[in-house]
Amino acid sequence: MTSRKSVLVAGGTGVVGRAVVAELSRRGHTVTVLSRSGAGGARADVSTGDGLDAAMTGIGTVVDTTNITTFSGTRAARFFTAATTNLLAAARRAGTGHHVLLSIVGIDRVPNPYYAAKLRQEAVVEAGDVPWTIVRATQFHEFAAQMITRTSAGPFVLAPRLPVQPVATAEVAAALADAVERGPSGRAPDVGGPQREDLADLMRRELRFQGSRRLLVPFRMPGGYGRAAREGGQLLHGDDVRRGGPSFAEWLAGRTK
Ligand SMILES: NC(=O)c1ccc[n+]([C@@H]2O[C@H](COP(=O)([O-])OP(=O)(O)OC[C@H]3O[C@@H](n4cnc5c(N)ncnc54)[C@H](OP(=O)(O)O)[C@@H]3O)[C@@H](O)[C@H]2O)c1
Repeated sequence: MTSRKSVLVAGGTGVVGRAVVAELSRRGHTVTVLSRSGAGGARADVSTGDGLDAAMTGIGTVVDTTNITTFSGTRAARFFTAATTNLLAAARRAGTGHHVLLSIVGIDRVPNPYYAAKLRQEAVVEAGDVPWTIVRATQFHEFAAQMITRTSAGPFVLAPRLPVQPVATAEVAAALADAVERGPSGRAPDVGGPQREDLADLMRRELRFQGSRRLLVPFRMPGGYGRAAREGGQLLHGDDVRRGGPSFAEWLAGRTK
């Protein structure tokens, strides 16, 4: 017997996953957190499928916020394809009625190996036989800090000058919780923050907030990725979008170290 109110958040210990768990709990859902660490919930590995059947028992909806941090397109594709294939197979066996996937705005406009892997992940969900919703979000406010970690080299931090429209994870979590409550809906409106920013500038402000003395090295991203992103490929487009939450400046002002 599955319950619409019972939600499994795969990756529920991650940057956005934690916000999703908090929002669903606040709305009265029974939430199970899934990660490899098992912190505060179920220990399972979406890459291998180990532990998924036990975690899926009694679950009505799965929200997938798992992630792999890599610049390798091959590794990203292997991870996202296996994760979704394994989650959908376990959902089918358990009779889980709704798979909600978090994806990224602009992955079909901007050529990037990680984005290509997310597109393939979306395709696996769409071709699967578990009813689904896909919510695409722009970069999180936390993305500036994630980028600093990924592009630091000694005292230097490489910072691409690219337009982004960063959003608070609480806003993305609200959109995902709405998707859970609405039931399977296919592609939901894209979610993004209130204004356009420059990624290198966000990284500079994040470094200042951290009190870091590392040196920011802004650069113009070459190639097709840089071109498509500079043309606004990662920003919200059209009217059928969900734009809101605090700006980066408001979010930073409310943060404690
Ligand atoms: N970052 C952004 O700006 C952004 C913007 C839009 C969309 N997204 C999408 O949002 C999703 C989450 O991103 P994030 O930055 O929040 O990720 P994150 O902080 O790296 O968190 C990843 C989560 O996945 C879990 N995980 C990783 N490998 C796993 C495995 N093999 N089995 C089970 N759990 C696993 C991690 O826990 P353990 O390590 O303990 O397993 C953690 O809970 C991704 O799909 C990403 O593409 C991100």
